[in-house]
Amino acid sequence: MPDTPQISESAVESAVEAALAAIAAAPDTAALKAARSAHAGEASTLAQLNATLRDVPNDQKAALGKLVGQARGRVQQAVAAREGELAVAEEQARLDAETIDVTGIPARRAQGARHPLTTMMEQMSDIFLAMGWEVAEGPELENEWFNFDALNFDPDHPARAMQDTFFIDPVERHLVLRTHTSPVQIRSLLERELPVYVVAPGRVFRTDELDATHTPVFHQMEGIAIDKGLTMAHLRGTLEHIARSMFGEGARIRLRPSYFPFTEPSAELDVWHPTFTGGARWIEWGGCGMVNPNVLRAAGIDPDVYQGFAFGMGIERTLMFRNGVSDMRDMVEGDVRFSQQFGMVV
Ligand code: DAH
Repeated sequence: MPDTPQISESAVESAVEAALAAIAAAPDTAALKAARSAHAGEASTLAQLNATLRDVPNDQKAALGKLVGQARGRVQQAVAAREGELAVAEEQARLDAETIDVTGIPARRAQGARHPLTTMMEQMSDIFLAMGWEVAEGPELENEWFNFDALNFDPDHPARAMQDTFFIDPVERHLVLRTHTSPVQIRSLLERELPVYVVAPGRVFRTDELDATHTPVFHQMEGIAIDKGLTMAHLRGTLEHIARSMFGEGARIRLRPSYFPFTEPSAELDVWHPTFTGGARWIEWGGCGMVNPNVLRAAGIDPDVYQGFAFGMGIERTLMFRNGVSDMRDMVEGDVRFSQQFGMVV
């Protein structure tokens, strides 16, 4: 050993102090083991001082031996005490980590939200229910006769062509994914006693590519009223009411002449949207008209006795301009964060 420490009271004391400091500072049992071997092990200062006892004069041996012995005893005691403390703390930490709070609130799955298209269709249905109308449904896989023929579409009407309609194989079965909710008009007339006041919200299909303004699967809201003496004034009043309910008291409607096989006369329905994001403006909202006598005849109704009106509008479009949704893809992707923006309407 190059410089064996000289045994003295101060050398012993500083070795003890260093040992006690290291022991007190040990954060865990592993660190304490290291401190013990450094300050109480064979290579420690105290061990070395102890070893030098051999060489001290006999008259000092007893006193110095006691000094070193007591010092080593203090260090051993400190190690034992710290060992006890750490054992308790480590046991406690282990128990804490293993604790299960049986009264705790369990981790929950993220809460879902109803899709705004669903709530919008319900909201519109409710407005009609409040006026005494009924809500009807029809099949999405529809017979071509209901989707087209009964609605007075010519056999060669372009809407039947392959680029618009999903035909179901084999084509001879004459099944299509309905291209609009208008077939529910016919079903409602066949199923119900007159007069009929029915709205039919639902999903429809067209062979469009998905982009910001198109989706091959979308939703419409159909309406049909057949009674004695219904006129275009009733149509106007009804549409004005739904427009105000959906867009506020400042909303108005405008009818522009148009053509649909199942109505005569037919009109495009525009709504004056008073709070549109880019400023108040007219928006194309849907189609409407007086039900064509051929449609009434297809449902076995005498057009000389009963008349009525019909209308249909796109739900996605309504949501887009009412709520300022600029990309239709947001409506179909199913990300709950999109739905959550519309609030947790139940
Ligand atoms: N079915 C038409 C469409 O999908 C919308 C429509 C127009 C419905 C006029 C009607 C109506 O009931 O009278 O474009």
